[in-house]
Amino acid sequence: MSRQASAAALAAQKPYTDLFDLTDEAEMGHIELSRAADLVVVAPATANLMAKMAGGHADDLASTLLMATDKPVLIAPAMNVRMWEHPATKRNLAQLLADGIRTVGPNDGGMACGEFGPGRMAEPDEIIHAIAAQFGQGALTGRHILITSGPTHEPIDPVRYIANRSSGAQGAAMAMACRDLGATVTFITGPATVPPPHGVDVIKVETAAQMAQAVTEALPADAAIFAAAVADWRVDQSAAQKIKKTADGAPPALSFVENPDILAKVAQMKAGRPALVVGFAAETENLVDHARAKLARKGCDWIVANDVSPETCIMGGAHNAVTLVTKDGADAWPRLSKHETATRLAARLAEALERG
Ligand code: C5P
Repeated sequence: MSRQASAAALAAQKPYTDLFDLTDEAEMGHIELSRAADLVVVAPATANLMAKMAGGHADDLASTLLMATDKPVLIAPAMNVRMWEHPATKRNLAQLLADGIRTVGPNDGGMACGEFGPGRMAEPDEIIHAIAAQFGQGALTGRHILITSGPTHEPIDPVRYIANRSSGAQGAAMAMACRDLGATVTFITGPATVPPPHGVDVIKVETAAQMAQAVTEALPADAAIFAAAVADWRVDQSAAQKIKKTADGAPPALSFVENPDILAKVAQMKAGRPALVVGFAAETENLVDHARAKLARKGCDWIVANDVSPETCIMGGAHNAVTLVTKDGADAWPRLSKHETATRLAARLAEALERG
């Protein structure tokens, strides 16, 4: 069966392929075709098609339709990881977003070309959720979700700081998953290596104190997800000038103070507490026991616990194996990509908010 015949059979519709097919033009011209739907979905959106869209090219049916349409356009990018990370694609994506084009994905994962990384097309059900969200029917439409992500940097002096190895990957994936279900997302991020997603309100901070302040200002929210790896301590008085080595080689005596526990503060709010407060627990032993203790100590509703022992390659890696600990018990999920973990969590979140 030809590709055209397969598409026709699956869609139970006539597929259109050629711009200047006179029979088609008589039946339905490309202008009419571009207006017939409520939404134009491009899946897969290749690097080449994105470049054409960004440049305003109209040299075949697809690009002409995209230029002629007066309807919203949703693209599901799909390409090799190097192509996705190429400066030209980044430029084109920025232009498309500025033009009001919406995106779903891409995901991290194995690709047809055998490489691994971002560039894999969003799964069909994610694309369907994203389409529903365009019509105000996403499972999180009308919800405000606050997410913290990434590490914090606590200054020692103007050039040195205390940090941790968090990449911000899980928080960014959570933000994308909530966005794709139609939520308004406030994404408060420390200096992460993974870039913040598009289509969310990004607030960049450096320190735990700044993160705490940004969270207070971003409330109220329907749910708050604390995926940041916040430094537990900061240097009491960071030096105004670079600390110099002393002649006798004695190291500086740093004294530390505890940072505000942002999760605990929000979870224990008397008024205006988000309906669902979710924390993360990175542990290297006794995962569930520690997570249960953390749930009680912090007063949150869920703890997403993961084993970050070096041999798991979770910290800084693309995968995660989490146990969701709630008041009702502990549910161990299989090893999934951070993106799939986020998609599942966002769906659970939507169900919980719906139940009220
Ligand atoms: O106590 P611990 O750092 O293990 O708790 C981890 C959880 O608490 C994470 O959800 C993290 O984002 C949050 N947290 C926070 N503020 C802190 C420390 C941790 O929000 N100062």
